[in-house]
Amino acid sequence: MKKLSNLEFKKKFDSIADTYEKVSNSYTITRRAESFKIDSAEVILETGSGTGIISGLIDKSIICTDISYEMCKQAVRNNRENVICCDAEKLPIRSNILDGILSAETIYYLDNPQHFLSDSYSALKKKSKLMITVFNQDMKLVDRIRSFLRIFDKNQYFDDGQRDFISMGYLKQILEKNNFKITSIRKKVIFPFGSLHKLNLYLEKGRLNYFCYFIIIEAKCIK
Ligand SMILES: C[S@@+](CC[C@H](N)C(=O)[O-])C[C@H]1O[C@@H](n2cnc3c(N)ncnc32)[C@H](O)[C@@H]1O
Repeated sequence: MKKLSNLEFKKKFDSIADTYEKVSNSYTITRRAESFKIDSAEVILETGSGTGIISGLIDKSIICTDISYEMCKQAVRNNRENVICCDAEKLPIRSNILDGILSAETIYYLDNPQHFLSDSYSALKKKSKLMITVFNQDMKLVDRIRSFLRIFDKNQYFDDGQRDFISMGYLKQILEKNNFKITSIRKKVIFPFGSLHKLNLYLEKGRLNYFCYFIIIEAKCIK
């Protein structure tokens, strides 16, 4: 199936904005959010922030941005202080102004992730950080099985139309090309259930972390 365009994803997420938080897995949201450590004095922007669910767990001063106007409206309803409706590939931000950009589960929706990286590079200050989470491409088959099973449970996460995720090889390559130096790569969540949190923490440290759902990448902006 052909990948949807940015505009088509915008429409998909517009249509789910009301129920996004209800159908999202609160355990995996928390695990993604805890990956990002920031200083509250820093100016941080989130791309693809949706309802502000992740940054709300980190620091309410984070600037939320999302291509979906309906998601942005939900973020405002969730008392997020700064919300901008924009495409992650066209950030309306001045150069050298941000201390950090975070982006959880968004980069693989983009028409051209390199536009996001070059805009991020421009907006970030020297030695500032880019923090990204992506669904583990090695777990694509499991994602397809889960998508199929959703047919039988309408309360599950909706079909967002995304069938492919970004490979780590390609992500590393484009980060480097856009002057980002990777400082850490971590993997998280084998079992997406809060009741198995301790088992996850244990398994994430060993070789079985190959089967983790999420990869968290931090990179430094080299200027
Ligand atoms: C899977 S949701 C992730 C939301 C939140 N970051 C989280 O981790 O729960 C993806 C979000 O990315 C947004 N998005 C998709 N394409 C985008 C683009 N080109 N620019 C900005 N946001 C985009 C969607 O509207 C949606 O809110």
